[in-house]
Amino acid sequence: MKERQYREDAGGIRDSQGRLIDYLRVSVTDRCNLRCIYCMPEEGVEWRAHEDMLSFEELLRCCRVMAAMGIQKIKVTGGEPLVRRGTAGFIAALKALPGIRQVTLTTNGLLLEGELEGLRAAGLDGVNISLDSLEGETFRRITRRDGHEGILRVIRRAAAAGLLVKVNCVPLRGINDHELAAIAGLAREEVAAVRFIELMPLGKAFSYEPLTGEEIAAILERRYGKLNPFAGKLGNGPARYYSAEGFSGVIGFISPLSRCFCESCNRFRLTSQGVLKPCLSSGIGVDLRAPLRSGADDGVLREAVADAAARKPAQHTFLAPAGTEDAESRPREMFRIGG
Ligand code: 5AD
Ligand code: SF4
Repeated sequence: MKERQYREDAGGIRDSQGRLIDYLRVSVTDRCNLRCIYCMPEEGVEWRAHEDMLSFEELLRCCRVMAAMGIQKIKVTGGEPLVRRGTAGFIAALKALPGIRQVTLTTNGLLLEGELEGLRAAGLDGVNISLDSLEGETFRRITRRDGHEGILRVIRRAAAAGLLVKVNCVPLRGINDHELAAIAGLAREEVAAVRFIELMPLGKAFSYEPLTGEEIAAILERRYGKLNPFAGKLGNGPARYYSAEGFSGVIGFISPLSRCFCESCNRFRLTSQGVLKPCLSSGIGVDLRAPLRSGADDGVLREAVADAAARKPAQHTFLAPAGTEDAESRPREMFRIGG
């Protein structure tokens, strides 16, 4: 009966602050085929052992339990989710879960081309493609790998295949800030949205400097004229959207630091190790793997999920000064959480 209450009362899981959690980001792997400078070290990443990762069946069980509690939308993420074999099948299984209305994917696009058909057949509702540069040299500087041309091609193919495509770009001062207008230009006719995400200070990202939404907007307005707030609904998250003259798609800003949106946070994150994290910026996590593997019933998992909701922080701690407990307990590895 508890499940029905969750759904009927709330349409989501209610957290300590009264926020409704109806969106879950599921990281299926911590591995990645890029090495973005603000996310991963160049070498020597310690991959978690395969047996420590949840199987797709285990991930699916977590999602089923949470769907029954009110999660309605799921984003599959990584690392790079397409480096794990079977991700398209997992997405098909998520789509079939009672209560799940939408399943989307975040990818760097490198392996997307070969998966497009399978993902479409799986019923994927949309794909976010990360792309920080349209230039070979800058792309290589940021990701330490090649591949921007293939990603551009797959962006076009995915859109042509009928998927809702959003491009995510992390502006880095002095590195790709000269080409933000060109990247935004993909929303002219290619994709539904180009979103600029403010770099969050975690781990490697401390070495780089973000641009604020205002700064980016000023750059874009110089090229495209006035940006007008876009009233329509797009996506589940904190992006603020704008339209520009002659653009079929919109331009979004996700600015957790300069424009905190924690008050309306609607999400949980599940790592590939089975840790349910109520907040990206905090070390708080509830382990689901141990109960999953010790034969616990769904009630035990629901308790764990409710515990994560109760412990969800009111706000991120990205601005906490170094040395404080908040700062020290912050995760250092974004790729293990999936953005
Ligand atoms: N701040 C903001 N975005 C980040 N990403 C990775 N690390 C950070 C960070 N520190 C982004 C990637 C990708 C998404 C999954 O998360 O660029 O678009
Ligand atoms: Fe991989 Fe994304 Fe991290 Fe780049 S930012 S290394 S694509 S997980």
